[in-house]
Amino acid sequence: LPLPLSGVVKGPALLPIIQADTPAQAVDIAKALSAGGIGSVEVVLRTKEALAGIAAVRNALPDLLVGAGTILSAADAIAAKAAGAQFLVSPASTPKLLEAMIDCGLPFAPGVATPSEIAMAFEYGLTEVKFFPAHLSGGIEMLRALSSIFQQVRFCPTGGIGQHNLADFLALPNVFVAGGTWLTPAALVKAGHWQQISELAAQATAIATK
Ligand code: 3PG
Repeated sequence: LPLPLSGVVKGPALLPIIQADTPAQAVDIAKALSAGGIGSVEVVLRTKEALAGIAAVRNALPDLLVGAGTILSAADAIAAKAAGAQFLVSPASTPKLLEAMIDCGLPFAPGVATPSEIAMAFEYGLTEVKFFPAHLSGGIEMLRALSSIFQQVRFCPTGGIGQHNLADFLALPNVFVAGGTWLTPAALVKAGHWQQISELAAQATAIATK
């Protein structure tokens, strides 16, 4: 199996999402996050130039850990690795997807939202998963309930995380990192308000390292 994602995450236990229209924009977002103390980012494959964005961020910020998110197929996993992604994140789990990500060899977190999906990942030997959509799937209470059943499984919750609930998610012993888009709101990205993104990141970093 690939290395666990928790073993490679750099900096605070935060995994902000970068969704960028151009590689240059991805680099601007990554620089802003990095200035706010972030050490790991997830560039999501939701825009045409996302793969080029991964390569550009790797090149511009060699100390940042750069992963690819929204991996939905074996082809996505292979393309992300070729672009320079250092880890993979998926919102979902299917046998095909899990096998593709294992074969890829990069640390990864497949998405789960139910006990059966966690059990499926566990059957593949995987004990680190993304819990998505975290808030809509029961949030902190659900993670507490899952902890008594899946005692070895650790989660990266995403979906509905914000500064207001970040500390509560990170306080759970079965949460190893928290992710999402709250540090990179589309409106700030569109307006190029990099300083505000840095400030959001610094606030989250302070919460995560307390
Ligand atoms: C993800 O891909 O994990 C989600 O976009 C995160 O959801 P959020 O936008 O609520 O943070």
